[in-house]
Amino acid sequence: MQPFDSVSVLEDATALDRAVDPVRKAVQRLLAPGPVRDALHGVWLGHPVHPTVVQLALGALTSASVLDLMPGNERPARVLIATGLASAAPATVTGWADWSELHEQQQRVGLVHAGANVAGLAAYALSLVQRLRGNEAHGRALGWTGLGLLGLGGFLGGHLSFRQASGANHAEEVPHLVPPGWQDLCAVDDLGDDATPRQRMLGDVALVVVKQGSRISVLSDRCSHLSGPLHEGDLVDDGSCIRCPWHGSVFRLADGTVRRGPATAPVHAFEVKVEAGRVHVRLAAAG
Ligand code: FES
Repeated sequence: MQPFDSVSVLEDATALDRAVDPVRKAVQRLLAPGPVRDALHGVWLGHPVHPTVVQLALGALTSASVLDLMPGNERPARVLIATGLASAAPATVTGWADWSELHEQQQRVGLVHAGANVAGLAAYALSLVQRLRGNEAHGRALGWTGLGLLGLGGFLGGHLSFRQASGANHAEEVPHLVPPGWQDLCAVDDLGDDATPRQRMLGDVALVVVKQGSRISVLSDRCSHLSGPLHEGDLVDDGSCIRCPWHGSVFRLADGTVRRGPATAPVHAFEVKVEAGRVHVRLAAAG
């Protein structure tokens, strides 16, 4: 059995839900929807902030443990541990923000990922205390323990990112599946006049179509956050945006850009023209 397959057992470990549910509620209470939470998700950056900010903490702490292998590095190792612990705060907050908007299987693995990282950070904090008391041997041992725990946390983070696709852009494949050039999509009369989001298929690709008077907007239907069906969402911001029904990400109908997270990547917006009562669409990056 591959290591990742054994981690898959965690995905279905419903016993973890007893911890997941109260932690998720607490995080959602502390990080209410709004500009701060959007900033933590990375709406401003166009992809999640968490993987970027963890680098400083992990780099500093790992470097400290490497220095511990060689004598005479006590002082720089202490500085690196203090730096790593201080820089763990943004990594922790952004991680919890993202975690609170995941599927339940992802949240189970994510909780264990967080637990391993918290235990690793605690080991490094104790390591620093021991070093400051002059007990270098205990400090080094605790540091290596922390490194192992952070390694476990990183392994689970890899599973979350690459096996369970949390944080990935779930709309990335759309241009590769859509033929280039103008494509016939549907009859204008099929769209009604009530500005209701409707799903229409372009080959195997689901699109969401919104007709508001004479204006027709077409986006790819899969939310970039976790593939939520946008056609089941509602229009917000005076009808200029559509909100995903799963976690509330908001996208502009005009160009698919993200107005509110947790999504960070835009969805694809199609050019639209009407000819002979038929709606035709084109995606510039298709093919
Ligand atoms: S799937 Fe999460 S906001 Fe759309």
